[in-house]
Amino acid sequence: MENKKVLITDTILRDAHQSQAATRMTFEEMEPVLTQLDEIGYYSLEAWGGATFDSCLRFLNEDPWERLRKLKKYLKKTPIQMLLRGQNLLGYRHYADDVVEKFIEKCIENGIGVIRVFDALNDVRNLKTSIKAIKKYGAGGKCVCEAALCYTTSPVHTTDYFVSLAKELEDIGADNICIKDMANLLLPFTAYELISKLKAELKPETKIHLHTHNTSGTGDMLNLMAIQAGVDIVDCALSPLGNGTSNPATEPLIATLKGTKYDTGLDIEKLLPIVKHFKGVADELEAEGVLNPNVRKVDINALIYQVPGGMLSNLMNQLKQAGQQDKLLECLAEVPRVRADCGYPPLVTPSSQIVGTQAVWNVLLGRYKTITAQYKDLILGKYGKVPGEMNKKLVAECTKNGEHIVSCRPADLLADELTGLTDYVKSQGLFENEEDALSYALFPEVATNFFKWRKANKMGVDTDMAKNPNKVYPV
Ligand code: CO
Repeated sequence: MENKKVLITDTILRDAHQSQAATRMTFEEMEPVLTQLDEIGYYSLEAWGGATFDSCLRFLNEDPWERLRKLKKYLKKTPIQMLLRGQNLLGYRHYADDVVEKFIEKCIENGIGVIRVFDALNDVRNLKTSIKAIKKYGAGGKCVCEAALCYTTSPVHTTDYFVSLAKELEDIGADNICIKDMANLLLPFTAYELISKLKAELKPETKIHLHTHNTSGTGDMLNLMAIQAGVDIVDCALSPLGNGTSNPATEPLIATLKGTKYDTGLDIEKLLPIVKHFKGVADELEAEGVLNPNVRKVDINALIYQVPGGMLSNLMNQLKQAGQQDKLLECLAEVPRVRADCGYPPLVTPSSQIVGTQAVWNVLLGRYKTITAQYKDLILGKYGKVPGEMNKKLVAECTKNGEHIVSCRPADLLADELTGLTDYVKSQGLFENEEDALSYALFPEVATNFFKWRKANKMGVDTDMAKNPNKVYPV
C-alpha cells in the first residue's frame, strides 16, 4: 500500500469566520491558541486576505498589517496562507501594476508563506502581475505561489477547460493549483474526474489543493472523492466554525483518514483544547448577533439555482429594500439568463454582485430596460475577458453611444499610482509606514478613518469621535 498522506490547510483564522460570522474574529480571539495551532502540523493556516483586511480597518480597529506581523510571531513553523483577488488585490477595482507588486512584496515581507491568487473571470492576464511578483519576492522557498481556478458550471466550463487553464497557470509559475469551489457547486464524482485529469496532465511536483464549502452538504463527500483521485491538500475548518456556509470540518476528515494510506498524521487529541477555545469564540459571536446559527444548516439552493450562499442573501436584501420580497424566485430564474448573456462568468466577488444586481433590475424594471454601470463595464471588457460568448444584441446596446470595448489586459490602461497615493497619505499627516499607502489604496475612506482613530488613540483623545466624525453627542 503506497502512502499518500493528505495535507490539511485549516481556515479557522480566515474563511471559517468570513463565511459564518461576517469576518469579525479579532486577533485577541485568535491569540490564546496560536502557539498550539502552530504545533498541529498543518500544511498551512489560512489567516489573512479575503475580507479580513477590510474588516480589520472597517469594524475591528485593527491595522491588518500589524495583525499579520503579530500572527507571524506565533506561527513559526506553519506557513500563513492568504487569499488574494489578483489585480483587485483585496479591494474592489483593478489596481496599477506598481501597487500590486508593492502589495505582494509587503505581504511576503510581513510573513505570508502561501498566496492563493484568483481572478473572478479566470482571465489569466489578470493574474500575471501578481504571479510574477509572488515568484520574485517569494523566491528561495519564502512563499508558495498557488493559483486558483474559480470553479463553476456552464456549457463552457468543462473538465478540459479547467485542465487547460491549470496548465496555463502552471506555465506562468504556479507552484500549486487550487480548485476554488467557493459556492460548493463541484460534485463529488465530477471532482474525481477533474482531479484525476489534473494529476495526469500537470507536473508531478505541482500540488493540487481543493477548497470547497459545505453549503449544500456535499463538502465531505467531495473531499473524500478528491482524496481518492489523488488531491494533495484539502481545506477544512475546525468544527466550531466549520460546515454549513464554511468549509467542511477538520476533525471528521482526520478521523476518516486515520490508519488508511491517506492518514494525515494529525493528532485529534492535540486539537481538543483549540476546538474548545473556538467553541467559546463562536458562542460569543453568536451572542453578539454576528453569527446566525442558520448558516450551519444544509441549504440546497446552491444545488438548484447554482448561486453562492452570499449572493442569495444579497438578492434577498435588495428585494427587501424594494419591498418586493415575493420576486425572489423570479430573480433566481433570471440570474442564469443574465449570466449567460455576459458570457458565463463564475459567480464570485465581484461578478456575483454584478450579475445579481442586474437580475434584480431586470425583474423589477423590465429586462435590460436599465443596465447597471457595472454590468455594462463587464460587457465592455473592463474586468477582463469573460469565458464564453456574450449576447450580441446586448453588446450592441452597450456600445451604441460609441463606447469602446477593452480588448487588452484592463490594467494595461492604468498608469502607475503608488507614488501619488504615498504622497497623499503623507501629506495628510497620517502616514506611519509604506503599508499605510497600500491600505489607503485599497480602501481610501475606511483606511483614512482608521488612521485618524489610530492617531487619536495614540494621543489619548476621544477615539470614538475620530472614527465617527459625524457623531452627534447628546448635550
Ligand atoms: Co471559501
